[in-house]
Amino acid sequence: MTPAPPKPPEALDEDAAARELAELAAAIARHDRAYHELDAPLVSDAEYDALRRRNEVLEARFPQLIRPDSPSRRVGAAPAAGFAKVIHRLPMLSLGNAFAPEEFAEFCDRARRFLGSSMPFAMVGEPKIDGLSLSLTYAQGQLLRAGTRGDGSEGEDVTANVRTIAAIPPRLHGRSPALIEVRGEVFMSKADFLALNAAQERAGGKVFANPRNAAAGSLRQLDPTITAARPLSFFAYAMGEASEPVAATHWAYLQRLRHWGFAVNPLSRHLESETDAPGFQAEMAAQRAGLAYDIDGVVYKIDDLALQNRLGFVGREPRWAIAWKFPAEQATTRLLDIQIQVGRTGALTPVAVLEPVNVGGVLVRHATLHNEDEIARLDVRVGDSVRIQRAGDVIPQVLGIVLEARPAGAHPFQFPRRCPVCGSHAVRAEGEVVWRCSGGLTCPAQVEERLIHFASRGAFDIEGLGEKSVHEFHELGWIRSPADVFRLPAREAEIAGLEGWGEQSAANLVRAIGERRRIGLARFIYALGIRRIGAANARLLARHYGDVETFLQRMREVADPASEERAAVTSIIGIGPAIAEELAEFFGEERNFRAVRELADALDIQPEETAGGGVLAGRTVVFTGTLPTLSRPEAKALAERHGAKVTDSVSKRTDYVVVGADAGSKAGKASELGITVLDEEGFRALLAQGPGR
Ligand code: IVH
Repeated sequence: MTPAPPKPPEALDEDAAARELAELAAAIARHDRAYHELDAPLVSDAEYDALRRRNEVLEARFPQLIRPDSPSRRVGAAPAAGFAKVIHRLPMLSLGNAFAPEEFAEFCDRARRFLGSSMPFAMVGEPKIDGLSLSLTYAQGQLLRAGTRGDGSEGEDVTANVRTIAAIPPRLHGRSPALIEVRGEVFMSKADFLALNAAQERAGGKVFANPRNAAAGSLRQLDPTITAARPLSFFAYAMGEASEPVAATHWAYLQRLRHWGFAVNPLSRHLESETDAPGFQAEMAAQRAGLAYDIDGVVYKIDDLALQNRLGFVGREPRWAIAWKFPAEQATTRLLDIQIQVGRTGALTPVAVLEPVNVGGVLVRHATLHNEDEIARLDVRVGDSVRIQRAGDVIPQVLGIVLEARPAGAHPFQFPRRCPVCGSHAVRAEGEVVWRCSGGLTCPAQVEERLIHFASRGAFDIEGLGEKSVHEFHELGWIRSPADVFRLPAREAEIAGLEGWGEQSAANLVRAIGERRRIGLARFIYALGIRRIGAANARLLARHYGDVETFLQRMREVADPASEERAAVTSIIGIGPAIAEELAEFFGEERNFRAVRELADALDIQPEETAGGGVLAGRTVVFTGTLPTLSRPEAKALAERHGAKVTDSVSKRTDYVVVGADAGSKAGKASELGITVLDEEGFRALLAQGPGR
């Protein structure tokens, strides 16, 4: 869809300009969030830049219309001009969800299996407020730094703004560790939100969509006096880094937070047993409407901090806490059409085009239909009345149809057998539900998108290689794969001869390409455009593997579903099974692997500093046999948390072999090679020599 070309600013009156600025502010905010927080950009960098430029042009012409929330005064979720960065040495992660008692029970069972235990857990239940999480670092009891979550590993330094929030103590009361990081939620009450919006409306400022946006918009102001004037609240609920242990249970920790001067949600409750959770859930659901602030569920945390520590994380989620959400909001509307989108990876995704409908305060126009099977399961047909639901930030879903309302002549949807973009055959692999375009690198939906992403800001950042030139060079057959980009300099004269180019711009492009032969590993990985590997995940992988050769070697292994590396990769904090799948799918395709290899050979890829630290940093450990108290995943996670690499087979590069009952030939091989052999006790003694990370 090509939008109408924008009018020149001179041709706009104030009203039209104000409307357009409001739309731009909303659109840019949405893209910022998709890019930085969700790792899922909705538009190309070029389109994004065009929106920002348009905003600048309009503001230059109508300075009186600059909005308090203007994108020029505000930044994306990751730090940009205006805010300094804060690095979260302990990543700020999210929570898994449960929607039903069985899912909650399954969460508890999973944690028990991991621990090899059969005891029910004592827990803490805390209302889940949908605000934005904040990290507060105190040194010698004084507030030193406050940072937003950002992409989880890097956020914005909002210290000056946070000092204006009354619920956040500038200094801790009583005794506190030399260094302690407290985490919690900044939010705005329903009444404050409505009053702020009314005031904003009177002043012609931005009206916020919901309390969460209002809180975020108020906190992320470059001018702290604006934040000071906004009614922000804060509840503390979690621990970050600490220079010494502060409590044995989460509940005791919450009491310490209170003593230090923090607001802790008074509805939080200690539950003797996980079996009390359904009762607490029902109680909170009943209270929900009468609370001063919006909650969308309850967070349950295993109370014992030693258990939390053993449980650790899987992907971006802790194994020791879960968000049990209240039921999602629903509505009924008409299905106008089913469109097929072709993603960068070639997946054909059906999207429901809906008659716009208000669901819990948000106007919904599209919903996902997931795949062919889902359409068949629902028997959904164009023209049907459909029930949809929206849960939090998730894309709305079609739940079912109202069969009685089906119009005459509505016929079953025929899933296309060809890619709507390039016309190649669509294929649906055995056992999979997704149809994919077989055009691979020849399908414009994929190859151009991949190359545009490859050259974009967060990736190789090659100036002069944007959407238009990628399209042009691709049409000419000059670039079919990333490595071809680095062959473009050989065509400098030809490029100079193209319409709209010339010697100067061709020379600039060649220089820009030359400068990017040297690149950091994180950017390199991000540039590959693998699904789910956004900037943040790329950084996690780069920090874990360190250098490109190790990375490629491990990715070869990950492609094999039975390999240890496939399981190991999910123990990197922030990387879950779904991401491992994507890595396996990508590197399992020989064509992709070859293209990446070829690219890597043409470049000078700078190693990334590995996460470092830990007594086992740089050491390789192999486990064999059954250990007396540690399950294999826990042993492995423990070793990795102390900096070790865990591998499957014993070789000269192995430093330690940890042996349990019924160990096979590996123990023998270890002694043959003169490698240190430990039992679980010895392994634990080794770990006790230093901190993990
Ligand atoms: S604990 C590793 N506790 O929910 C666990 N989070 O979906 C970190 N949230 O990013 C989170 N209330 O912004 C925790 N009592 C609570 C919470 C809470 C709200 C938010 C938080 C987090 C998100 C995860």
